[in-house]
Amino acid sequence: MATGGRPTTMRAVQYSGYGGGSAALKYVEIPVPSLKKGEVLIKVEAASINPADCRIQKGLLRPFVPQFPFIPVTDVAGEIVEVGSAVQEFKVGDKVVSKLIFWKAGGLAEYVAASESITVPLPAGVSSADAAGLPVAGLTVLQAVKAIGTKFDGTGVGSNILITAASGGIGSYAVQLAKLGNHNVTATCGARNLELVADMGADEALDYKTPEGAALKNSSGKKYDYIVNTTNGGKWSAFKPSLSSHGRVVDVAPNFGNFVASILTLFSKKKLSTVILSLGMEDLRFLLELVKERKLKTVIDSRHPFEKAADAWEKSLSGHATGKVIVGM
Ligand SMILES: NC(=O)c1ccc[n+]([C@@H]2O[C@H](COP(=O)([O-])OP(=O)(O)OC[C@H]3O[C@@H](n4cnc5c(N)ncnc54)[C@H](OP(=O)(O)O)[C@@H]3O)[C@@H](O)[C@H]2O)c1
Repeated sequence: MATGGRPTTMRAVQYSGYGGGSAALKYVEIPVPSLKKGEVLIKVEAASINPADCRIQKGLLRPFVPQFPFIPVTDVAGEIVEVGSAVQEFKVGDKVVSKLIFWKAGGLAEYVAASESITVPLPAGVSSADAAGLPVAGLTVLQAVKAIGTKFDGTGVGSNILITAASGGIGSYAVQLAKLGNHNVTATCGARNLELVADMGADEALDYKTPEGAALKNSSGKKYDYIVNTTNGGKWSAFKPSLSSHGRVVDVAPNFGNFVASILTLFSKKKLSTVILSLGMEDLRFLLELVKERKLKTVIDSRHPFEKAADAWEKSLSGHATGKVIVGM
């Protein structure tokens, strides 16, 4: 294996059981991971926390995932310091972004081993923090906006759409990608983020705590062709009256009721369909290009030094982040 400065041990954050939130995170000194032949060793510069990381700790995939002790976080950007013998695209010194496999994760550490197949180059001019925000959130949104027929080559005619929780990690990318696709966007968020969401391009921003916002009503009274739902609390019964006659909800944060609705509405004119992230690295390259071209921006809620990773965890758990929560190494 080619090496470029591998220390023997590294700092990492891990937990050893379900639950416990940020208090259960332990700072440890452990061996730097060894590489399989198709893997690269990344010196992590930035990692972003997703709600799913916290839900896995809560036992979302119990009893299969995770195996303890577990180093959480899947979205990382950094520099390659070692490559496996079968790695073809990358060399030591390359800056990259990885979407680590969720049941292995390992991103909340100084170094992580990532398969070449889940790693893409970090374009020049894009910061590690901006890139680390993208893998799970950006790809999920891209999948959702593709599902509503969004075109990014300027030829899209655009639909009338609603995006819920536009201030979140997912929602903030959703507004921007939807506008790139020429949609007319109404977005919901809290009062403190109305200006931010308008700045991202939303045609109208609704405070979800007002009666109009809770009723999802835009000022024109026009119904939505699509609703991209990114809140766990969004209910099909609340969305249905706001949809046009053949409207559809694309739900990236489905609760149990909305899973049921996705089946019950299969043959209805108004539908709800769920999104489970399945896009790959080509799509991540596409998103990174948009960031490089300044067409897409990672909204960063907060940056936390590695020593304060527990604060980042706490912020993500709160459900009140504005954009992405980043840990810098
Ligand atoms: N399907 C998939 O593959 C997939 C992938 C990634 C994520 N997800 C899911 O998508 C959801 C969103 O993720 P995220 O990273 O965007 O979460 P997030 O960053 O934690 O979202 C927090 C934001 O949501 C806002 N918010 C909360 N409830 C709201 C409501 N009822 N109306 C409007 N805004 C509301 C909050 O505003 P205030 O602070 O003002 O309340 C806050 O700014 C999560 O449930 C996540 O698990 C799914």
